[in-house]
Amino acid sequence: MPKITLLRNGQTYEVPAGTSFLDFCLDHTAPHDFGCTAGSCGACVCVLEEGAGNVNPVSDDEAETLEMCTTHKGARLGCQLKVLGDISVRQLDS
Ligand code: FES
Repeated sequence: MPKITLLRNGQTYEVPAGTSFLDFCLDHTAPHDFGCTAGSCGACVCVLEEGAGNVNPVSDDEAETLEMCTTHKGARLGCQLKVLGDISVRQLDS
């Protein structure tokens, strides 16, 4: 099963492939901040320090929001991620 490592607390969790990162965080009270939960506010912006290829690709809508909220290369919206393999997540200040 894929592993999620949250660099904010250093903990690693195992999840079924295809798990929504948002649902995982809500279910586990995991330390990642969200706002709209719908890909439009940028509150959940993060980078995948490892496993950038182990999630769903960036959609046009996600790319548009990312462009408005960060200049960090490779940033993603946590609320839009589906976990397909091992990832390490670092939340960025939005
Ligand atoms: S929580 Fe608003 S964009 Fe992810």
